[in-house]
Amino acid sequence: MIEEIEEYLRDFEGELAQVLTRDDLNRVKGKYAGRKSRIPLFLERLKTLPLEERRVVGRRLNEVKVLIEERLREKEAELSRKERKREFVDLSLPGRRHPLGAFHPLRLVMDEIVAIFRSLGFRVEEGPEIETELYNFEALNIPADHPARDAQDSFYLGGGFLLRTHTSPVQIRVMKKLTPPFRVIVPGRCYRRDAFDATHSPVFHQVEGLVVAPGISMGDLKGTIEVFARRLFGEKRKVRFRPSYFPFTEPSAEVDISCGICQGAGCRSCGGQGWLEIMGAGLVHPQVFRNVGYDPEKIQGFAFGMGVERIAMLKFGIPDIRWFFENDVAFLSAFKGLG
Ligand code: PHE
Repeated sequence: MIEEIEEYLRDFEGELAQVLTRDDLNRVKGKYAGRKSRIPLFLERLKTLPLEERRVVGRRLNEVKVLIEERLREKEAELSRKERKREFVDLSLPGRRHPLGAFHPLRLVMDEIVAIFRSLGFRVEEGPEIETELYNFEALNIPADHPARDAQDSFYLGGGFLLRTHTSPVQIRVMKKLTPPFRVIVPGRCYRRDAFDATHSPVFHQVEGLVVAPGISMGDLKGTIEVFARRLFGEKRKVRFRPSYFPFTEPSAEVDISCGICQGAGCRSCGGQGWLEIMGAGLVHPQVFRNVGYDPEKIQGFAFGMGVERIAMLKFGIPDIRWFFENDVAFLSAFKGLG
């Protein structure tokens, strides 16, 4: 009989484990604990046993009875807990929102630069990031042994190809494709074998400009850049042209804007200079015209090239160029709703 009681307990545990609802529980309860269960029958049979055996079996039967009741109470509490949890739906909670994306700050600035020049009659052109050494250097009057190549060390791909170090080779492509007069603006990605530090990145962006028409002068360049700088940075900005050198422009200039923090007086942000460099520019070099089959006696032009990262850093007050490329959502979220 003791074996039957143990089996009874095992069966009970097995069925209890399957219980999911109150109905299940009541059914198991009725089968193993109620008046209609086998417990009264066991008690009845107990009386027929000899005294010694009756004591042992009786003790075990009682333990099992108590255990079954306890396990049923536990199960009941478990079901109540689950029910309460299911019922607690807070209807005042806001729904789950899909996070909104944002334009990358470099995209915002590039689009704004392009929009300003489009409003001045420039058309957008693009060129490949894999460029020929010929277009990236030679056609721009930078021969193989020219020191200007050191400043633009590239990722060479072999076979006369490289990752372009600036957007200026698109000047060559555009001059070969279009017939003057024209005004083009060229946004694009560039590469240089530079360290990745607070002010350098081996991948960066430029916007190139090129205007070709008879009689174009430094005055046209200055006027255009002044209008551009004031539109982008605000009417209070002053623009300064400093003599400089590029093999593909003559004369060449470096363009500065007055510091937006000290208005030119000199502060920590501009290194005490009062001015911040934003681009290189100049009149198209006669040799560059000759390289694409134009007659420099009959046609003139100006070109400029600016670094988008630098302009974005100035515009948004970003201290480290690496922030643009780290994909830090907290940083990128700051530009939500712009553009
Ligand atoms: N390509 C030059 C650079 O990357 C910038 C530039 C463009 C200068 C056009 C003059 C004219 O530094």
